[in-house]
Amino acid sequence: MKRNSTKSYRDICNASIIILEAPQTTGRFYYIRATQKNDMEKVQSYIEDNKDRFLDELIEFLKIPSISADSEYKAEVVKGAEFVRDMLLKAGADTAKVENTAGHPIVFGERIVDPEAPTVLVYGHYDVQPPDPLELWESPPFKPVIKKTKLHPDGAVFARGACDDKGQVYMHIKAFEAMEATNSLTCNVKFMIEGEEEVGSNSLAPYMRENKEKLQADVILVSDTAIIANDTPSISVGLRGLSYVQVKVTGPNRDLHSGVYGGAVGNPINVLAEMIDSLMDENHRITIPGFYDDVQELDAEERQKIAEIPFDEEAYKNDLGIDAVRGEKGYSTIERTSIRPTLDVNGIWGGYIKEGAKTVLPSEAYAKISMRLVPNQNSDKITQLFKDHFISIAPDSVKVEVEPHHGGEPVLLPTDSDEYRAAHEAMKSTFGKDPIPERGGGSIPIVSLFEEILDRKTILMGFGLDSDSIHSPNEHFGLFNFYKGISTIPYFFHHYSEFKKQ
Ligand code: BES
Ligand code: MN
Ligand code: MN
Repeated sequence: MKRNSTKSYRDICNASIIILEAPQTTGRFYYIRATQKNDMEKVQSYIEDNKDRFLDELIEFLKIPSISADSEYKAEVVKGAEFVRDMLLKAGADTAKVENTAGHPIVFGERIVDPEAPTVLVYGHYDVQPPDPLELWESPPFKPVIKKTKLHPDGAVFARGACDDKGQVYMHIKAFEAMEATNSLTCNVKFMIEGEEEVGSNSLAPYMRENKEKLQADVILVSDTAIIANDTPSISVGLRGLSYVQVKVTGPNRDLHSGVYGGAVGNPINVLAEMIDSLMDENHRITIPGFYDDVQELDAEERQKIAEIPFDEEAYKNDLGIDAVRGEKGYSTIERTSIRPTLDVNGIWGGYIKEGAKTVLPSEAYAKISMRLVPNQNSDKITQLFKDHFISIAPDSVKVEVEPHHGGEPVLLPTDSDEYRAAHEAMKSTFGKDPIPERGGGSIPIVSLFEEILDRKTILMGFGLDSDSIHSPNEHFGLFNFYKGISTIPYFFHHYSEFKKQ
């Protein structure tokens, strides 16, 4: 579509119909048709011509330590937001602003090509996880380097946030630039890029409630998930929910000599370990009463589809350096990480952990515990069940406190929509293969709120790999994946506007 055309979106749609019926029409209509036909080719050659610059810019973005969890980095988080704003404006946004919240800022930008065209709201996050443990990084987390790996023979950029989610946010900004520069943007586009995803998106829900009008869109497009492999494209159609708690076990009123008192006084670390151990039975099923009550069970046909997803368990174990997998009895690895709920200790501490040995019976012990949830579990309900159960199993020798942290609801997304079909066709165009719908194991709690607050479905079209070490040392993002994302996104816009016309 011509950018500054005085014709409306619908006129142009109609115009292309006229052309088909009357190819002898005036040159102007011919021009429109020719433009439409070659839009995607023009976009792709623009991307090819500018790919080195795109990567250089991403590297600049990755140098900003926008760590949302650490208040010492507050100013750096703001710099991350400003970078996104500036790049949106450079790429051709009509407006882009850094909007303050009670927490870290949200960047909102938009480009309205035609009020009657469909609108895509792109969501992502510019904040990153803390890089700890630093000593395990082969290169500093905020000094991006490009290295080849077995799964990324064309090279991958190594830095905190490379895949989660700066690299994937940047694909959208560059895809937008490419469409804008070639006059081929056929949808309106809005960007909402937040800085608190990694700490629970606390400011985003109030922001969305206050800005409902401004955020109005037909679909929300998110690239913050993974594909199965670089030769096996997939679209995420589910995410797990999350219930996250911190527990504290208190024993005696002070640290004690473990010889003088040991054997007679309950050791909070021993007790905590026992309590945690009892949360799962020998089949790795969670023992909290009522935990599975709302879990949606899959029928044989649905489980068969999952069994058909290409998956190499040997390669999986090799990559992780483990001799065997472990999980709930009766379920495959893919099922255990997608359709089944879990309980994991994320951290546990107490007592003496410094150099050498100190004989001590500690007064306190702590753990951070996460539960991944599946449809139709509810995070508040599960948190309450955990709390009641954990307190009930505490022996009289200790006191137990349970402090809930952030939660989030699971999502399951439809595949029989124009939105999904556009994503499917887009990936098919660039990978040359039908993408597989797949449920992911991670959580993006805000997705359920898109539905609740904006009443719109989300498309999770991510381009990372599960093995890209997100949240771990040496996080990276394949250059193949970065460029594949930039090439695929314009096809989504193209197909989506076509489907919406029908
Ligand atoms: N991008 C991830 C979620 C993700 C990763 C989904 C891989 C699917 C596949 C996101 O940034 C994330 O890390 N989410 C957190 C939850 C949040 C509340 C801290 C998570 O899943 O632990
Ligand atoms: Mn993410
Ligand atoms: Mn993350």
